[in-house]
Amino acid sequence: MFKTRLTEMFGIETPICMGGMTGVGYGELVAAVANAGALGFITAHMFPSGEALLDEIEKTKKLTDKPFGVNLTLLPSINPIPYDEYREAIIASGIKIVETAGRAPTDHLPRFKENGVKVIHKCTSVRHAVSAVNKGVDVISIDGFECAGHPGEDDVGLVVLLPATVDALPDTPIIASGGMADGRSLVAALALGADGVNMGTRFCATVEAKIHPNVKQKIVENTELDTVLVGRSLRNTARVAKNAVSVQVAEIQRDPTKSFEDVKALMAGQRGRENVLRDGDTDGGIWTSGQSQALIHDIPTCADLVKNIMTQAERVRARLGA
Ligand SMILES: Cc1cc2nc3c(=O)[nH]c(=O)nc-3n(C[C@H](O)[C@H](O)[C@H](O)COP(=O)(O)O)c2cc1C
Repeated sequence: MFKTRLTEMFGIETPICMGGMTGVGYGELVAAVANAGALGFITAHMFPSGEALLDEIEKTKKLTDKPFGVNLTLLPSINPIPYDEYREAIIASGIKIVETAGRAPTDHLPRFKENGVKVIHKCTSVRHAVSAVNKGVDVISIDGFECAGHPGEDDVGLVVLLPATVDALPDTPIIASGGMADGRSLVAALALGADGVNMGTRFCATVEAKIHPNVKQKIVENTELDTVLVGRSLRNTARVAKNAVSVQVAEIQRDPTKSFEDVKALMAGQRGRENVLRDGDTDGGIWTSGQSQALIHDIPTCADLVKNIMTQAERVRARLGA
């Protein structure tokens, strides 16, 4: 057993979370994660309306009676995203845990607080973590430079970023995110002061993730060298899997005369979701993956994955104790 402020606050059996994931974070996977004793998040912006999100939450509740949450990724978008509808759907559904990312959820906090919804804010710097806690979030998930998705622009690895955040916020439960993949990661994160870990890439390579088997296999084959940073020149960096498209985008973006228009078609989210995640062409578009690929060697069920992580963590703890 690993009891932490996180397991106590949310009534979960293990201090393991699966963060929101565009194209992956559907209810079936979230329910499998919950049934395995970890905490998963349905990714709200994959659903066109609050009503559609509510349907997904209700579907998930039929698959598990364990706690799960919803991710709100608050990003500027050309097409307006119905965040207020999502927030009200979350409250109406009785969901009590939200993971936010992108920017501090300042405007949503009063309604969440009124309704007893706890907010985990995922961010990539100590200053943003401190500011979010001052605004009222309950938990910080701190994402190191290793992470899949948006590592921010400071490029600080988790081994420094995590204890720096813990030191700055001793009274706030902190989740270690980015590069976490196994029981060693978990014990190391706890040693650095975390109350739990958050994994994204690791949960993509599971039986229940509804993505093409080719993508899962590619995650297993890829090493720590097989990611690329795109969007650097736009100060909107994303760590994605290395492939024909991401290498081409990064190359174009090294030319300071090029703008977003020059990479827009290559980077289209729909292209990644359809060609790669749905159809299995791993060179067909941009897809998100982190350096933790290096530590992923199998495609287990979520139940086996969480069991294996906890067994390894117990072994590591015993070895350290000895
Ligand atoms: C395929 C994929 C899609 C993701 N999409 C989102 C997203 O929409 N919103 C978000 O907050 N984080 C997103 N993330 C980031 C994860 O929630 C998590 O913070 C990250 O994967 C942690 O790093 P790791 O992959 O090394 O475990 C995504 C990650 C992956 C792998």
